[in-house]
Amino acid sequence: MKGLILSGGAGTRLRPITHTSAKQLVPIANKPILFYGIEAMRRAGIEDIGIIVGDTRAEIKAAVGDGSQFGVRVTYIPQDAPLGLAHCVLIAKEFLGDDEFVMYLGDNMLEQGLERFVAEFAAARKAGGAQAPVAQILLCHVDDPRQFGVAEVTSDGHVVRLVEKPKDPPSDLALVGVYLFDPTIHDAVRAIAPSARGELEITDAIQWLIEQGKPVRHEVLQGWWIDTGKKDPLLECNRLVLEVLEPRVDGDVDGASQIEGRVVVMAGARVVGSRIRGPAIIGADARVENSYIGPYTSIGNRCSVVGSEMEHSVVLDGSAIRDVKKLTDSLIGRNVEVHTSQQRPRALRLMLGDDSKVELES
Ligand code: TTP
Repeated sequence: MKGLILSGGAGTRLRPITHTSAKQLVPIANKPILFYGIEAMRRAGIEDIGIIVGDTRAEIKAAVGDGSQFGVRVTYIPQDAPLGLAHCVLIAKEFLGDDEFVMYLGDNMLEQGLERFVAEFAAARKAGGAQAPVAQILLCHVDDPRQFGVAEVTSDGHVVRLVEKPKDPPSDLALVGVYLFDPTIHDAVRAIAPSARGELEITDAIQWLIEQGKPVRHEVLQGWWIDTGKKDPLLECNRLVLEVLEPRVDGDVDGASQIEGRVVVMAGARVVGSRIRGPAIIGADARVENSYIGPYTSIGNRCSVVGSEMEHSVVLDGSAIRDVKKLTDSLIGRNVEVHTSQQRPRALRLMLGDDSKVELES
């Protein structure tokens, strides 16, 4: 079995961060989102992974390399424009050949691994005979299905209909960004036409399979699933991952500092006269001085936080936060500088792209 990770796209919902870099490389607990997907594939025994890359291909290639750091082989498949999830399958044909494959949206995070998902498909194929499934989708009960691809399923587990962002949803089962296909999907992606938004939709391709009488099965997700494409879900995902992080102090914490709860201080980091209340992570070679870092905060590598208080935020590598009395619910890009000389009564909530500079003066 092969893997196909979709890491192109426009990332409009995560601007300004995505003006300069790939949303799949935004870190969750200081590790790029994309790496979690690659690791999940490796754990499920998938060693041959194709990655669809768009405008941010150079950055993604620099981070992932040939895949050997994960114990996998990576093949990059360039996509000139984000023409849809089914378009990704179309252009990956040469890489995929006639193998079965797991397709994974590179900005999605799942609590559960892929092992069971892959094993259940293999078992159903074996048992199925002429009714063996050609595809398997992962579904999740959601409160408001209208903003997702939604599936209608039978009690014996077959999918009978898929609709993209329906006004009148047939169920509360949303499509999670993980799919399993056999080579029949290649006929489907060639047969469909672009949707009203001009994309080749994977939901249309799967619907085509169903209409050809090909069995499509489903699994209901266990644990959480987050599409990290927007700021608040991304912060929520960071919270969930930090909550299960193994505490560990590899950096330097001076005697005047306090570390409470689940905290990781990475190698080369220095914590001076500060209080860190986990769950939190302080990146390699970062400096935290006379500051309070509250729960659900990730401070990137080489950052400096001086005379500041913050919580529930993600700060990317190389940024400097100085004299900010309270920063919360924020996503700060790379090499950003935030400085305030004002004693603000209220918390600051910021979403700043790479290389921004913010000065707040009274
Ligand atoms: P989306 O989040 O649906 O799309 P997007 O990345 O264009 O984001 P936005 O809506 O904010 O503009 O894409 C899901 C994943 O699939 C994401 O990792 C990007 C990737 N993708 C491709 O690789 N090629 C494509 O043609 C599309 C549409 C998405």
